[in-house]
Amino acid sequence: MNSTAIEVAGLSKRFGDVAAVRDASFRAEPGRVTGFLGPNGAGKSTTLAMLLGLTRSDAGTARIGGAPYRELSDPSGTVGAVLDAAGAHPAMTGRGHLRAYAALGGHPLARVDEVAATTGIGEYLDRRIRGYSTGMRRRLALATALLGDPSVLVLDEPSNGLDPAGIVWLREFLRDFAARGGTVLLSSHVLTELQHGIDDLVLIDRGRVAWSGPLADFTDSASSLEAAFLARTMEVHP
Ligand SMILES: Nc1ncnc2c1ncn2[C@@H]1O[C@H](COP(=O)(O)OP(=O)(O)O)[C@@H](O)[C@H]1O
Ligand SMILES: [Mg+2]
Repeated sequence: MNSTAIEVAGLSKRFGDVAAVRDASFRAEPGRVTGFLGPNGAGKSTTLAMLLGLTRSDAGTARIGGAPYRELSDPSGTVGAVLDAAGAHPAMTGRGHLRAYAALGGHPLARVDEVAATTGIGEYLDRRIRGYSTGMRRRLALATALLGDPSVLVLDEPSNGLDPAGIVWLREFLRDFAARGGTVLLSSHVLTELQHGIDDLVLIDRGRVAWSGPLADFTDSASSLEAAFLARTMEVHP
């Protein structure tokens, strides 16, 4: 797998009166799972949308493997994204959806069965997406992101809608992806969801990166993680 880091520097975005992201800088490294943690409205989705070239920044840069997303020569072969609002046409089958995205990205159709097997949706592939549970839709979105065999995965609140077994499965999958040299950046507003699955933590609150570094440096005991989180997110409030 290629070594492809994510580098965000001085990123800012305003929506009218709302400073959604304010001078945010952080990195996500190959071989590591980086958790992007912050309360609802902290600016996580906006930051990830700028990283993926979906929202224009007011200032700053976001690079993947040294280049902005829109300048990547093989975007879906470099970064796979699963966003909060990722949608799939309900009348399509899972297979139809994956085949369309494989064709769009220029990936071999044989990848469809591979990524379906990887994400555990193989037996549902020929059903229409309207009949998929939320958890199956999340797995389909991840399968779509994996079509190009990317070295970077960006996931916005991936645990939403997953059952506990699905959450454990996803955590193991992401650990394995990183162990093979991949870069994983995943957001969550739920501290306890991240505390077992990540190597590095980026804490965002009211648009500002309040803390970033190895999770082990944030707190050395899981029981005080919540207290450390609350202290860190409160100290940046005006
Ligand atoms: N398209 C938009 N128009 C106006 N305000 C927005 C838009 N997108 C996000 N915001 C605002 O920006 C802030 C950050 O939102 P968001 O990035 O979605 O946070 P998070 O993903 O951490 O919950 C919030 O105050 C939100 O209401
Ligand atoms: Mg969000």
